[in-house]
Amino acid sequence: MPTDTQPFFTGKQLLIFGCGYLGTLIARQALARRMRVIALTRNPQKAAVLRAEGIEAIVADLATPDWHELVPREMDYVLNCVSSGAAGTGANSSGPHRSSNGGPLAEPNADPLARLRRSYLAGMQSLVEWTAQSPRIGTCVYTSSTGVYPQGDGARVDEDSPLATPAHDSRSGILSATESALRKNCVAQRWFILRLAGLYGPGRTHLLDQVRDGAAALPGSGEPHLNLTHVEDAAAAVWAAFAAPAAFANRAYNVADDFPAPKAEVVAWLAAQLGQPAPRFDPARATLRRRVVPDRVILNHRLKRELGWQPRYPSYREGYASLLSR
Ligand SMILES: NC(=O)c1ccc[n+]([C@@H]2O[C@H](COP(=O)([O-])OP(=O)(O)OC[C@H]3O[C@@H](n4cnc5c(N)ncnc54)[C@H](OP(=O)(O)O)[C@@H]3O)[C@@H](O)[C@H]2O)c1
Repeated sequence: MPTDTQPFFTGKQLLIFGCGYLGTLIARQALARRMRVIALTRNPQKAAVLRAEGIEAIVADLATPDWHELVPREMDYVLNCVSSGAAGTGANSSGPHRSSNGGPLAEPNADPLARLRRSYLAGMQSLVEWTAQSPRIGTCVYTSSTGVYPQGDGARVDEDSPLATPAHDSRSGILSATESALRKNCVAQRWFILRLAGLYGPGRTHLLDQVRDGAAALPGSGEPHLNLTHVEDAAAAVWAAFAAPAAFANRAYNVADDFPAPKAEVVAWLAAQLGQPAPRFDPARATLRRRVVPDRVILNHRLKRELGWQPRYPSYREGYASLLSR
């Protein structure tokens, strides 16, 4: 975010759904901009940690209406960046969890599609219901995923490319249905959808760790392009959307770096940086989800052109070099 937009945010209120990897970074950046930050989490232990940092944490499940009465109904900025990856109740926690208004929270579901439906679709439905009851919600940003696109075969994908058909029985269909719920029913002054490529950065180094572990073979294929965005660049896209000129409203943007490269190229480069032999790829060892990874190149031109976003880490080389030098 350009430094000259910082005073713009001072004293404003931000509500975050999903204080995970990206959401927590945004919350900290917002505190540094002297904003009031309210965050929803299902995890009481995480709530305590967030409160210690100065974030007003509310324990509730986004997919229920339990939190509707617990947050202010006037908000300058709302960020929905939940994902279904985290278990919610926390691996180290014990006992049944209670929401901020005392009710028990739902247990996490083991079925990945059921978790997706709850965190994304039911969560968004609850969010838009709340906007309909709230007198003034400014800018609402939803961090969707490039997984909403069905294209493969090396297609170059921009925001005008067709989305997956909204459905409840596939990952891309649920993501598409979630975007649709926002488009049709959000009653904020304006909304933005940010379709994020794969997030990496400090503490999110899965691919680097796999290479560093020295395995002779990685599961899956090395051919599909890896579409990546460093977490700092994803955060900068969120701030660019919050600060977008009034001419821009109700738009979707891809958030990916400038140079998606085949996974084998990235892995070979990482191995070279580590002074190790590059692992080969073994498609037979891939999990069902990883077996069919669509090959496509996600284009970021609209985000640059309209919101002035520029990635600090334009390719995997700059991004991973910064991680390797830490
Ligand atoms: N990671 C990627 O590679 C990637 C790729 C494309 C798009 N994205 C998008 O980027 C965003 C952020 O991803 P991330 O990796 O930072 O996510 P993350 O670390 O997995 O955190 C997501 C958070 O969502 C919260 N959450 C999930 N369901 C919830 C519910 N029903 N009610 C309340 N909170 C709920 C969880 O918080 P609690 O456990 O505290 O409840 C969790 O901490 C997501 O919207 C995702 O769609 C990520």
